Amino acid sequence: MRIAVVGSGYVGLVAGACFADLGHQVVVVDNDQAKLDALQNGQVPIHEKFLPELLSRHRGSRLEFSGNLQEAVRDSDVIFVTVGTPQTETGEADLSFVESVAREISGALGGYKVVVEKSTVPVYTSEWVRKVILRNGTDPACFDVASNPEFLREGTAVADFLFPDRIVIGCDNERSAEVLRQVYAPMTDGSYYQRANAIPQPDRTSVPPPILVTSSKSAELIKHASNSFLAMKISFINAIASICESVGADVNQVCQGVGADSRIGRRFLNPGIGYGGSCFPKDVLAFRAVARECGYDFRLLDEVMHINEEQRTRFLRKVRSALWTLRGKNLGVLGLAFKGGTDDIRESPAMFLVQALLQEGCRITAYDPAAMAHAQDAFKSNIDSPTVHSNTHSNVSSIASNLKFASSAYEAANGADALLILTEWEEFAHLDLSRLNQILKYPIVIDGRNLYDPEVMAAHGFTYYSVGRAACHPDGVSSATRGEDAIRNGAKRA
Ligand code: UDX
Ligand code: UDX
Repeated sequence: MRIAVVGSGYVGLVAGACFADLGHQVVVVDNDQAKLDALQNGQVPIHEKFLPELLSRHRGSRLEFSGNLQEAVRDSDVIFVTVGTPQTETGEADLSFVESVAREISGALGGYKVVVEKSTVPVYTSEWVRKVILRNGTDPACFDVASNPEFLREGTAVADFLFPDRIVIGCDNERSAEVLRQVYAPMTDGSYYQRANAIPQPDRTSVPPPILVTSSKSAELIKHASNSFLAMKISFINAIASICESVGADVNQVCQGVGADSRIGRRFLNPGIGYGGSCFPKDVLAFRAVARECGYDFRLLDEVMHINEEQRTRFLRKVRSALWTLRGKNLGVLGLAFKGGTDDIRESPAMFLVQALLQEGCRITAYDPAAMAHAQDAFKSNIDSPTVHSNTHSNVSSIASNLKFASSAYEAANGADALLILTEWEEFAHLDLSRLNQILKYPIVIDGRNLYDPEVMAAHGFTYYSVGRAACHPDGVSSATRGEDAIRNGAKRA
């Protein structure tokens, strides 16, 4: 099939590359010329596993990049809209990019085409897209609008696309449903998975994936409900972690026990410093707003957001309780991305904590395997235009000068008063603990992602704080994390 994907961001670029890998002829459209130039020149603008392989496999043959939206639409059977839907000041999704794309493509919809909304949008967006296209004089027989939500996690987006738990297509008639079935046929008939050069199948997935055909409104709700549910699951376990800390229980054991119930499941039940990223924070807030507009007061979602914010504050308190005063302390920080496996720092809890600790007067040396360039830009633009967190320009400059970037985890830890783990990168879970102990000024690790076993850390001579588990000390004494001072409890150089 001939497919246009409008918007070459995290979702659009992955979708375009994967559609090409399924055998379709794809043109990815963007209105950002610099991005297009980079893509045309063979650059890969985002850190995403398997994306470089797919782009180099199909670029210039089945996959093209263009700034000409109308031409791309005229040449396509299906148009996927994947432009951003950022958050407005009042928490709703800003649909102005979606609307402007709908308006612009109206004139090019000759012959029958299906316009598919893939960005995360509130219920009724498909209806609005249809109205906008009709208002601009398009013959109703020329097109249908459908909703095909994505469930891609950054970092594993290519595998999530090609090995999904389910494909949801929200179509209000059989004709458009048939077109979308054809788009995904190489997956649903299993032929893609027989290919020798198919992307390797991840564990815990099964093929072929089921396809669910729903109404467009149901599909739109499935997306918001799925993301809100997952965010709720994370906030739920973070709340349990806080109780575990109060009573000296181990949240990992609780997770194991709770998650072993197949009705609940173990995935997305990892406590930490709260969820971030471009989706959960924005989508929970937007869903809250949509529900209100539809007449339902979804207060459960307020609590999900509240727990999430509190989780960062709790972590800051933990750092304070481990180190006593913060001004002038040298901290090694591992992780800036909002999660492991990505270079994305949007709504990153790690970035929030780095900013907060800098404001407390800490000196930070940070390392992230992929997100440092974005973090550097973010702190630089903070100096150029100070945000709400920063009172004066000079204040921000001096804060930023207390932030350095390291080229490895060990360099970040070298000479630090304590090491903070803020992102769940795989490589941070396999550090050489003896070496780490030697290079830290004090062997204190404050782990916001529970990457280590407290007993192992204690055995290696660390004072170790994590989330929802008692603090551990080199002398083996564990304590609930209420107010103990690490140094008092034995964090001293061997
Ligand atoms: C996606 C989804 O679209 C969003 O709804 C979801 O919640 C998160 O993931 P993402 O791919 O992360 O967004 O967005 P972004 O990286 O901002 O990319 C959007 C792209 O669309 C950009 O490259 C931008 O230049 C392009 N764009 C935007 C257009 O081509 N035309 C426009 O009118 C607006
Ligand atoms: C999410 C959804 O998972 C995906 O289906 C949707 O299409 C887009 O939004 P993404 O934002 O890329 O994907 O990342 P995800 O892996 O869901 O993690 C989101 C945040 O939750 C991260 O900050 C992560 O660290 C945090 N998280 C995740 C936890 O704190 N605990 C968990 O158990 C899982």
